[in-house]
Amino acid sequence: MRIDIISCVPRLLESPFSHSILQRAQDKGLVEVVVHDLRDFSTSKSRQVDDYAFGGGAGMVMTIEPIDACVSHLKSQRAYEEVIYMTPDGERLDQSVSNELSLKGNLIILCGHYKGVDERVRESLITREISVGDYVLSGGELAAAVLADSVIRLVPGVLSDETSALTDSFQDDLLAPPVYTRPANYKGMEVPEVLLSGHQKKIEDWRYDQAVERTKARRPNLWKE
Ligand code: ADE
Repeated sequence: MRIDIISCVPRLLESPFSHSILQRAQDKGLVEVVVHDLRDFSTSKSRQVDDYAFGGGAGMVMTIEPIDACVSHLKSQRAYEEVIYMTPDGERLDQSVSNELSLKGNLIILCGHYKGVDERVRESLITREISVGDYVLSGGELAAAVLADSVIRLVPGVLSDETSALTDSFQDDLLAPPVYTRPANYKGMEVPEVLLSGHQKKIEDWRYDQAVERTKARRPNLWKE
């Protein structure tokens, strides 16, 4: 899988992909993440990528030319399954969206800024619009990093113990059960007895019950009888 991220503040995306699981996924050759500076595709001397909104009003709008040039350049090199625009008015990201995207080949993610992009970008170049939640970020970069992280960890081979993605919260519409590690007793706070029993079937039943209780209590909207 290859993810190309288009941004006018590419430095915001340097760190998220340079550590831990996401760095290892790239080192292993399982995914390639390439960040492109939208300003490299501007034809203006000052590398401008925004302009005043027609009709007036506060805030600048990202122009279509550099975005079209960058997307066309990428598409001339390989086929892409989705061109995603990160925006608060997009479809809400959840685990099923991440699962679906993890099965795709190549993705382009466009990060918005200012008052957004010229509507014609959305009409002619974008195939999918995704929001990471009902709040407004200063730009799409952090949202793109969230999306890419949630997708990349689902790519087969990225997690060393492949079952660990399967036991994540949301993977079966259940929140994950509580987990414990040593010491078994910390200042009088004890680890549930069953986890120390060595009885695998009982442990699995306990974990399932806890996941159900947690889901009903915290996210009743996810709970399906
Ligand atoms: N850009 C700004 N806010 C955003 C959000 N909530 N989701 C996706 N992209 C965004």
